[in-house]
Amino acid sequence: MISFEEPIIGIEEKKLLNEVLNKSSVAQGPYVERFEKIISSYCNTKFASACFNGTAALHLALAALDIKQGDEVIVPSFTFIATANAVTYTGAKPVFTDIKKNTLCLDPNSLKKKITNKTKAIIPVHVFGNPCDMNSIKGLAKENDLSVIEDAAEAIGAVYRGKKVGSLSDIGCFSFYNNKIISTGEGGMCLTDNQELNGKLKLLRSQGKVKNEDLKGDDFIEKKYYHEMLGFNYRMTDLQAAIGISQMKKIDDNLKSRKRVAKIYENEFKKYDINIMKNETSSNPVYWIYPIIFKNKKIKMQVGKELRKKEIPFLSFFWPCHKQPFYDSPETLPITEEVSERGLSIPCIPSISDEEAIDLTRIIGNVVKNA
Ligand SMILES: Cc1ncc(COP(=O)(O)O)c(C=O)c1O
Repeated sequence: MISFEEPIIGIEEKKLLNEVLNKSSVAQGPYVERFEKIISSYCNTKFASACFNGTAALHLALAALDIKQGDEVIVPSFTFIATANAVTYTGAKPVFTDIKKNTLCLDPNSLKKKITNKTKAIIPVHVFGNPCDMNSIKGLAKENDLSVIEDAAEAIGAVYRGKKVGSLSDIGCFSFYNNKIISTGEGGMCLTDNQELNGKLKLLRSQGKVKNEDLKGDDFIEKKYYHEMLGFNYRMTDLQAAIGISQMKKIDDNLKSRKRVAKIYENEFKKYDINIMKNETSSNPVYWIYPIIFKNKKIKMQVGKELRKKEIPFLSFFWPCHKQPFYDSPETLPITEEVSERGLSIPCIPSISDEEAIDLTRIIGNVVKNA
């Protein structure tokens, strides 16, 4: 069955979950630490801090970098709303940029025009699993002394110039929500190579408090309720981590199968007037979902109606963040607005068979041909 989500609890997950259920605590503990080590080693970063979800990961990253009221943070408008909301939670202002038409990722030329003396950070989003033009973005960040936080929520396993996304900036953030490439139901992670930032991320996720077992000497007796900074309760549980550890054992096969489905889509869509997303040079995307872009909105609507009729799930492209009721900006970001109107995404999960993938492209292709 074609869908965006497949059951995540298999034999391995159940076995490890049972182990955790037999402990006296299922809250953050050794399984979270194990999961962090697995992800940091997979992405080749020095440190990882797990947290409750991807939005919390972005909020923690911004807080660890001291982003606050009066600051501006540049984000693409073409993203899930959490990227912008995390900035707003800190009191800072999200400043929206346009995207490149071919990759759907943040456009460094648009970014350049948005940098002011209030700008403190940039959040490139590896949208739909497609790595951004990180060399240009990091170049601009360096010139202007800005921090970079990758929103890699949709992209674990994607590679840019030989390095995994999430490891290409000051802090990389993942989401492990149910429909993501690997899932813990809800879950998130911040990666960094910076020891000081890692320390802050760990304090911030746990009410600004040093873990009891790390308190030395008299502090162990005196400082149980001593909070070094304003923090949050964004901890991951060992139950989530147990699922994540098991999921990571299967990530290579998972990504391989998604690529198989994506290649079929790519070959078949060539036969019709349908655009697909392109990649940056020397990058290997992962296929979280599969975005397709039609010649105009009318055709997208016709395809959407046909898929609904046949009960085949699809996702509309993001409504531009700068046009969301909460942000409601009068500015125009032409590529974002055009792409958002003309595109939708189809599932690309590992269990889709070759035949199902071909059938789906034919259903869509026929609507396009007859439009
Ligand atoms: C690009 C992007 N950023 C952030 C998030 C937020 O992640 P979560 O849903 O785990 O809070 C998501 C996920 O849904 C996302 O797709």
